[in-house]
Amino acid sequence: MTAHVVTGIGQLVTNDPTAGDGPLGVVTDAAVVVEGGRVAWVGAAREAPAADTVSDVGGACVLPGFVDSHSHIVFAGDRTAEFEARMEGRAYSAGGIRTTVAATRAADDATLAARGRRLAGEMLAQGTTTLEVKSGYGLTVADEQRILEVAAGLTDEVTFLGAHVVPAEYAGRTDDYVDLVVGEMLDACAPHARWVDVFCEDGAFDTTQGRRILEAGAARGLGVRVHAAQLGPSDGVAMAVELGAASVDHCTFLTGADVELLAGSRTVATLLPGAEFSTRQPYPDARRLLDAGATVALATDCNPGSSFTSSMPFCVAVAVREMGMTPAEAVWAATAGGARALRRDDVGRLVPGARADFVELDAPSYVHLAYRPGVPLVRRVWKAGAVVA
Ligand code: NIG
Ligand code: FE
Repeated sequence: MTAHVVTGIGQLVTNDPTAGDGPLGVVTDAAVVVEGGRVAWVGAAREAPAADTVSDVGGACVLPGFVDSHSHIVFAGDRTAEFEARMEGRAYSAGGIRTTVAATRAADDATLAARGRRLAGEMLAQGTTTLEVKSGYGLTVADEQRILEVAAGLTDEVTFLGAHVVPAEYAGRTDDYVDLVVGEMLDACAPHARWVDVFCEDGAFDTTQGRRILEAGAARGLGVRVHAAQLGPSDGVAMAVELGAASVDHCTFLTGADVELLAGSRTVATLLPGAEFSTRQPYPDARRLLDAGATVALATDCNPGSSFTSSMPFCVAVAVREMGMTPAEAVWAATAGGARALRRDDVGRLVPGARADFVELDAPSYVHLAYRPGVPLVRRVWKAGAVVA
């Protein structure tokens, strides 16, 4: 196996506190040795072992590739007008999901795949090397299944979200729709997914319905994730913790009891600042979660309704400015935190054995991700040891 050394790293974020300074495990004047797509060695450049080939990044900051653990990028249609109306004062409503469902059902597989690839490409170019993708804009057995198949062409982290909203043809018959989701739809979809998710919110599903769907998914071997407390306080957070969910996402309206439960659990609180940006809701209070000892992740929630950003650097900058996070906390949450939310230990860190996924910044420090918002700082992206963007 040939070894490649990436050297001239002015500041290396490893997310391994034993390898460097602080919780980010920062090493200055560092090098990374890559072998067979994995990290073989990290440390001070002057101590790097000999390698077959060398890249010098000229003093750049290098950090683990972003882990975007929450997205909905397989869809068709456009909701620009809905966003514009919100910016004129209209409130966000989960009902907008049905607009995208109608457009997605009408689109063929090739169109859905091309659009999904385009968004996944935007994400990669902005440093996202691990991506989760949900279904949820099909809401029939056949449409949910084909969305999952398209998603599987983009990532291994595929989530079945048949319970995104009750489709128009089931209006007033939510429990009948839940029967479909836990029956025929789950049969068709479980083989194509790793995770099951439910949108627990007013206008979508309550926790009785949500629990039924999540338990049915778990019984089929799917891991549990939950959308909760986006638009108001919800017992969805407690349910997620009780079910051992890997992550509960949004967490905008948390009670003190929710924060305590999260802090005492392995369930990650995944915060999605793009959603608050685009819905003009208050931002979630990351500070309170972190001070209580909860694990926090950041993700884009990329979707056409509530958060049409594909940019993890944007989420980091907003989280620092609006959610009480330090730059180090936000960078950790966007990398190692996302990996925890997906129960992965092979990504989100640069340690021997991890996948060699990393981002080279056109900046000397990770702090610039928040200090220079909106500036395209991602210079090159490495995935499994190769430059991919
Ligand atoms: O995560 N919360 C549910 N799903 C998306 C919104 C989807 C939409 O409005 O189309 C979210 O914000
Ligand atoms: Fe979402």
